[in-house]
Amino acid sequence: MDHFNLRDGAVHCEDVPLAEIAAAVGTPVYVYSTATMQRHARVFRDALGGIDDPLIAYAVKANPNKAVLATLAREGLGADVVSIGEYKRAIAAGIPAGRIVFSGVGKTAAEMAHALEHGLYQFNLESVEEAEMLSAVASRLGLEAPVAFRVNPDVEAGSHPKISTGSVHNKFGVPIGEALAAYGRARELPGLKVQGVAVHIGSQLTDLGPLRAAFTKLGELIGDLRKAGHDISVADLGGGLGIPYDPALPPPPSPLDYGRMVAEITADWHVRLVFEPGRMIVGNAGVLLSEVIRVKPGAAAPFVVLDAAMNDLMRPSLYDAWHAIDPVTPRGSEMTANVVGPVCETGDTFATGRRMGQVQPGDLIVFRTAGAYAATMASTYNSRPLTAEVLVSGNNWSVVRERQDIEALIAADRLPPWLGP
Ligand code: LLP
Repeated sequence: MDHFNLRDGAVHCEDVPLAEIAAAVGTPVYVYSTATMQRHARVFRDALGGIDDPLIAYAVKANPNKAVLATLAREGLGADVVSIGEYKRAIAAGIPAGRIVFSGVGKTAAEMAHALEHGLYQFNLESVEEAEMLSAVASRLGLEAPVAFRVNPDVEAGSHPKISTGSVHNKFGVPIGEALAAYGRARELPGLKVQGVAVHIGSQLTDLGPLRAAFTKLGELIGDLRKAGHDISVADLGGGLGIPYDPALPPPPSPLDYGRMVAEITADWHVRLVFEPGRMIVGNAGVLLSEVIRVKPGAAAPFVVLDAAMNDLMRPSLYDAWHAIDPVTPRGSEMTANVVGPVCETGDTFATGRRMGQVQPGDLIVFRTAGAYAATMASTYNSRPLTAEVLVSGNNWSVVRERQDIEALIAADRLPPWLGP
């Protein structure tokens, strides 16, 4: 459920007409709903109601805007970060260091040192090599690093191949068959406090089966580790719960179904559970608002050319992702269209042969479900400045990221001395 609804014939975000934001800020612009984020954070927490003191570490990569993070910090969420940039954003937004989990397959020594010096809940290590590097960094600083190994359970997540991570052929985690040896090695290393296990098998999962299989394997590993004398007090179950994008498809499992499955499988684990939801918290809480530049005739269907392009919203060209595209002020009739951006490649296509509300040049449209992995994956391809972002709360709204200034973008380039000043 979200708070982008038709009211008086026009789409509003909470109590604000989207057209008002477009008129003031220009397009394209991302618009986020505070009430939707709050609702999703609470729904997820409630779904884990039977679990004692879970740490919900929001996956910052889904939407790292500081205002988004500050909203979620007030809901008591922690953060799952994968770079020191994300770590700094989380801290700047008011997320306590003690609620930050540091994931990622390529943490550098400098990143490790920064997180150690400023504090965190846990490093999720992805290899023995990484454990060795962290041990050296922690020893040099005279600090102790709380760690878990992310294990790769070799489970096919069933999601898009580019966002499935739990197979042995993926770069992620320590293969589960090698986990006991990895923990044995970590125990010998100075500066590490081995406290947990972690798993994350992919994103936009629409079936609980693979998650259940991965968690079951993780439970068996916890038993084996304890038998081998390791003190395991934390289990991080990652993120990955899918959300509805296309209303024509069956809905993904609900947070409640997920919570019940987790409670059942982890009942006798006796650990603190950590969760890393990203998309589930912010996905439906954002839209990309864009204007139709022109409608150009096409062989099979007209091309609706928008002022938003693949550089603003990468998901369709990267993953063939489906986003609902709706007119902000529906005209009451429909059309079949190819919806494209102005970038000079055919990949800059948002939808082909799409049945959608009729639009004309100058109309506003929204891409729905664009709160996660959207603004954050934007680039300046075709020298298009990064899009503005707006946060709505009730009848208030505020620009939470200025549109990038094209002159500043160009000024960041430097001419070498031999090409002039
Ligand atoms: N934890 C780890 C270690 C992750 O790698 C991810 C996502 C998450 C948690 C959060 O997963 P979520 O709950 O959001 O599914 N750009 C892609 C998605 C990439 C996901 C990367 N990792 C997309 O637009 O679909």
